[in-house]
Order: sequence, then structure tokens, then C-alpha cells
Amino acid sequence: MDKLIIKGGRRLHGEVKISGAKNSVLPLMASAILASGVSTMSNVPDLKDVETMGHLLENMGAEFSASNSSVTVDTTAMNGMTAPYHLVRTMRASVLVLGPLLARMGKAIVSLPGGCAIGARPINIHLESLQKMGADIVLEDGYVKAYASRLHGAHISFDIPTVTGTENLMMAATLADGETVIENAACEPEVVDLADSLQKMGAKIEGAGTSKIRIFGVDDLKPVSHSVIADRIETATFMVAAAITGGNLFIRGARPDDLRSVIEKLCEAGISVSDDSPDGIRVWSDGKLQAVNFKTMPYPGFPTDMQAQLMTLLSVAEGTSIITESIFENRYMHVAELDRLGAEIRVDGAVAMVKGVSRLRGAQVMATDLRASASLVLAGLVAEGKTTVCRIYHLDRGYEAIEKKLLAVGADIVREKD
Ligand code: EPU
Repeated sequence: MDKLIIKGGRRLHGEVKISGAKNSVLPLMASAILASGVSTMSNVPDLKDVETMGHLLENMGAEFSASNSSVTVDTTAMNGMTAPYHLVRTMRASVLVLGPLLARMGKAIVSLPGGCAIGARPINIHLESLQKMGADIVLEDGYVKAYASRLHGAHISFDIPTVTGTENLMMAATLADGETVIENAACEPEVVDLADSLQKMGAKIEGAGTSKIRIFGVDDLKPVSHSVIADRIETATFMVAAAITGGNLFIRGARPDDLRSVIEKLCEAGISVSDDSPDGIRVWSDGKLQAVNFKTMPYPGFPTDMQAQLMTLLSVAEGTSIITESIFENRYMHVAELDRLGAEIRVDGAVAMVKGVSRLRGAQVMATDLRASASLVLAGLVAEGKTTVCRIYHLDRGYEAIEKKLLAVGADIVREKD
């Protein structure tokens, strides 16, 4: 298993290019199931999760290939309808094949993902909504078995604006008979990216990016070529990297409109951000950081996927910050590791109190999920001495070449085998 060794204290300077969004490309690849033929996605990040989604599609008889930041999915000979446990357990986003399989093949057998390091993460809303569209669903041997000769349109109101739930339903509804309305839909930019691609395939969708999405079912869809939007969480992680090291980075390809809540909080913490350029965002800081309070919320609120990284920044800011995690019930696993580096963070239920300290000190740390791993890398950039971040396979699931990008802007970071 690989680990990252970071010697802290270097200011980051220069330019970083942002990769395509992990949470866009995964639903986009699943959406290829909806049409027979060859679909191509460009600006695809080289990530473990993309490879896993490729294996999942291959397992169903599709052909998958990846090269030069592009992936191709040929569904012409697709005949399988099963997402097996050994793949779903390594990547929860595998559940995104449920809606497309059911819509196009009339049948889907998808392993239940089970719990996860950040929370229970049930998929009840996905299943109840598909049932409203006429699917027969049984849970058997740890699998969701879903059947529908043709789904029909329905009026669905989500209890919680689930991101992959919205994507699954939107994909399922594109080939359903009649009109589907999703109320309290997720508004994330990745939902909009998927809707844009589905429309190019011939789907009829209105309102993506708002909390009410209307989908008018069509008889068939055609394959698509689509370029994936830039990853807003990778962007925001590099914004924090620039700020926490008192550095200055131009973050090429960043989409500031996807990150208003994050930019607002970083500015409140004393960081300078310029989004004048159409090519990206510049972020700089003199290293003097102030405490801020924030609560994670569905988009356009502050993203839960940036909670851990901003917490690291606030751990060395002046004053005490209060963080409330409202999306996942167990997303503070990084706190104990940050405390090992000298942070002073106390958690009470969904609330974390971060008392800023003047410095962190390097140590060996280990992370249990993707964004927690990123927060520990950020801590390593600012900590005195050497920080070793173990079990970085989580990072490789969601950040393309993170150590190479950090090295190129002045970080002292190397990857080593355990
Ligand atoms: N929820 C339910 N029932 C459901 C679905 C969701 O109770 O049927 C709850 C969840 O337990 C959670 C809340 O609703 O408390 C929101 O979860 P959501 O379904 O929106 O999360 P997701 O779709 O499983 C996506 C991202 C996550 C990101 C969340 C929240 C993808 C592939 N994953 O997950 O990304 O944290 O939305 O924004 O898009 C990551 O990239 O590190 C990551 C975890």
C-alpha cells in the first residue's frame, strides 16, 4: 500500500490544472447504458473509481477503454444486468447503474452497498422512487433485484435532496413512458452536467440545477460525446493548499460559480481570491488565517466534501471555529488524526469546535475516506517536520496525481511503498 511523505513549511507557488470531476464522470459513464453504441467522455480524470466503473460496465458485457483523459464505452453487445458485490463494495457510486439498467433492459440486479466510513448512506429514496415509476423491487441475498417492462412517469418528492438519487431517477425517467417530476431534487453542478449530456443523447429534461426537474420520457436515446466539467472539490482542495501555506496559486480550469459558498468562507478566513480570469481562479494568502463558522449543506450550501479540508485550515487559524456537519453522521474520522498532529478539535455529535493552534507537528497518520485523506495531506503541508499519510488508496480514488500536482508548485512530497 502506498504512503505519502510530506515535509511541511513550503509556500506553494505557481499553477495547478484541475482535472475532470469524479462525481460527474461516474454518472456519465453509467448513462452510456441508456443507448446502444459507442459513447465517449473527455476530460476524464485518471482515478481508481473510473477504472472500477469501467470494470462494472465490462462485467455487463460492454466494452470499456481509457486513454489520454478520455473513456469510451461501447454498449452494443451489452447483455448483463448485474452489479456484483465485489465491485459495489469498493465504490458506492456503482448504484448509479440501477436507473439506466432498469430503463433500458427492464431488469437490474445491484448489490446493496452496505455502510461506509462516513455514514450509513441508505439508498431507500432511490428504491422508493423507482417503485413509484412502476418497478417491482425485492431485496434478496444482499442484492436489489428490480424489474419493469417499461417504467412510467411519476411525481416524486424526495425527503432529502440526494445527489446520486437524483441522477439515478433522472436517467431512469429519460426512457420512461410519460412525464416524471422530481421535487426537492439535488442541484449540484454534477447533476447539471449529467442532464446536459443526457439532452445531447436526445433526452428531454427541464430544470436541472433547480430543486424541480421535469423529464419527458422518449422511446430511445443515442450515444454521446461529452466533456466532463472541472472538479469543484479538487479545485477547493488546492485553494486551501495555497491558503494554508501562505502561498499563491493560479488554479487553471476552476469554475468559480460552482464554489461560491467555499469562496465566501475562505474570504471570511482572510484569504484572497480573484476570479477575474475566464481560465481559472487565483488564490493567495499571507498565512494569517481567521476562525470562521460553517455548516455543510446540499448545494449551493457549503459542500460536505470540503468539510475536512477547511477544518485543517481552521486548525491553524486564529480563534475558535464551529463546524456543523449536517449531511453525513460520521464524517469526523479525520479529527483524531489531526489532533495527533497537534490540532485542538473536539467533537460533540454533529458539531466540531476547532481551537486554532499556532503550529502543527508532523507525525504518521492514517485516513479512512477520500476527503479525510486530503485533509491530512493539507495538514502535512503546513506541519513542522515530516508527516506520513498512510493508506492513500482512498486519495487515488478521487484526486488525480495529487502528489505530482503539489510537487510541481513547490511542496516537498513523495510517494513511497509501505
Ligand atoms: N440519503 C438517504 N437515503 C437515500 C439517499 C441518501 O437517507 O436513499 C441520505 C444520505 O445518507 C445522506 C444524504 O441523504 O445523509 C445525502 O446523501 P446523497 O445521496 O446526496 O449522497 P450520495 O449521492 O451518496 C454524493 C457524492 C458524495 C457526496 C454526497 C453529498 C457521488 C458519487 N458521491 O453521494 O461524494 O459527499 O453526494 O454531496 O456523487 C466524495 O466524493 O468524497 C463523496 C462522498
